Amino acid sequence: MPPDSAQLTARRNGPLAGAVRVPGDKSISIRALILGALTVGETRVGGLLEGEDVLHTAKALQALGARIERIGERAWSIHGVGVGGFAEPAAALDFGNSGTGCRLALGAVAGCPITATFDGDASLRSRPMRRVLEPLERIGARTLASADGRLPLTLAGARDPMPIVFEPQVPSAQLKSATLLAGLAAPGETVVIEAQPTRDHTEKMLAHFGAEVRVESLSDGSGRRITLVGQPELAPRPVVVPADPSSAAFPLVAALLVPGSAVILNGVMMNPLRSGLITTLTEMGAAIERLDERNEGGEAVADLRIRSGGLRGVEVPAERAPSMIDEYPVLAVAAAFAEGTTVMRGLKELRVKESDRLAATAALLRVNGVGVDIEGDDLIVHGAPRVLGGGVVTTHMDHRIAMSAIVLGLASERPVQIDDGTFIATSFPGFVELMRGLGADLS
Ligand code: S3P
Repeated sequence: MPPDSAQLTARRNGPLAGAVRVPGDKSISIRALILGALTVGETRVGGLLEGEDVLHTAKALQALGARIERIGERAWSIHGVGVGGFAEPAAALDFGNSGTGCRLALGAVAGCPITATFDGDASLRSRPMRRVLEPLERIGARTLASADGRLPLTLAGARDPMPIVFEPQVPSAQLKSATLLAGLAAPGETVVIEAQPTRDHTEKMLAHFGAEVRVESLSDGSGRRITLVGQPELAPRPVVVPADPSSAAFPLVAALLVPGSAVILNGVMMNPLRSGLITTLTEMGAAIERLDERNEGGEAVADLRIRSGGLRGVEVPAERAPSMIDEYPVLAVAAAFAEGTTVMRGLKELRVKESDRLAATAALLRVNGVGVDIEGDDLIVHGAPRVLGGGVVTTHMDHRIAMSAIVLGLASERPVQIDDGTFIATSFPGFVELMRGLGADLS
C-alpha cells in the first residue's frame, strides 16, 4: 500500500529509536507564502512544509498574481505583488482542507479592490467563517455570497480599507492574523486586542518584513494589544521555517508510550505560545530533554530527546489551550496510558477544527477501550498503563485524529486501524515513512 494512503493499521512492535526531523511548521509556512506574496521583490523560503494545506495556499496565491516557484528541496521563491496588489482570480480559490490558508488569505484579499470566491473540501466547507468575516467587513470588505457564513463564499475586498480596533471573542490566531493582513492596506493603525495570547507568527513575520508592529501586555496581565501601522512597504527577507511542534507531537508521544524507546527530534520550534504540550507532558512525568537550545530564523528551537516512561494524570487548565490547541487529540492518547485521570478544560474551540475534534477524540479512545467523558467543554480521560486497542477509528477528514489513532495503536495491546490516512499529507507528508524509520509497524 502506498504510504499515507487510505486504510492504515498500527501494531505494537519493539522500541522506537533514532534521530529525525519532522517537516516545517505549517503556520509559518503559510504565513511566509502570504507575506511573500504581499511584498515587492523576491522572498526566499527554506524548509517550507510541502504539505497539501501549504500547496493549496500557494496555488491560491498564484491565482491572485504572485509568482511562486519551487527552486529546490523545500526551498521556494516568491515574487510578490505588494500590499493591495492582488489581481482578481479567474476561478474560485480552492484551499482544500486548510482553515489557516483560507482565513489568512481572506484577510489579505479583504484589503484589495478585487472580488474572489473561496472554497475548500467538505471539512473546510463545514467550518465557521462568520467569525473572520466580521472584522473584515468592518475594514470595508463585503461578503457577496455565503450560505450560513460557510464556504463557498465570495468576498469583495475594500476599495478604501479602514483601520479598526478588534477584540476577538474567541482566542484565535487565524482571526488575529486575518485582521492584521487586511489592516496592512488601511491607512493608520489596526489594533487587535487578545484576552488570551495566541501564536504570534504573523506579528513576528510582519516585523521581519519591515512593517511597524507594537505588541504590549494588557494591564490585567494575561492579554496583549497588537498594533500594526498600515500601508508599509514590505521588503523581501529570507524566511527559515523551523520543524513543526504540532507534527513533532506524534513521534514524541509515541516515543513516550512505546516501552524502551529513545528518540531525538531535531530542530523543533520552542515558541512558548506553541509549547503547551511539552509543559503538560512534563507535568505528567515525561522525560523530555531540550538539547542545543538555539535561535533559527527568529524562533527558539531545540533538539528534543525523549525516553519512554510512565505518565500520571493531570489537570490541564483552560488558559493553556491556545498554546496547545492542535495537540489535544494526541495528549488524550498519552492520557489514556497514564496512571489516573486527566482533565482537559476549556476545549470549546476543538469542536470547530478540521472535524469536531472533541467528539472525534472521545470516539477514538472509546472504540479502543479507554474510559472517557465529555462534560461541557472539558475532556476527561481515565488512564491505565495497558490499553486494549483493536478499534477501527473514523478520522472525519482530520489529519490529527488519524495520526493520534496511529500513535495509540503503536502502544496498545491489539492493532488499531484508521479508515483514511490520506489527510495526513495536509500537514505531515512522509509521516508513515518517518515513523517506520523509527521502528513503527504500520501497514
Ligand atoms: C493556526 C491557528 C489555530 C490552529 C491552526 C493553525 C494558525 O487555529 O488550530 O491549526 O496558523 O494561525 P485558530 O486560530 O482557529 O485557533
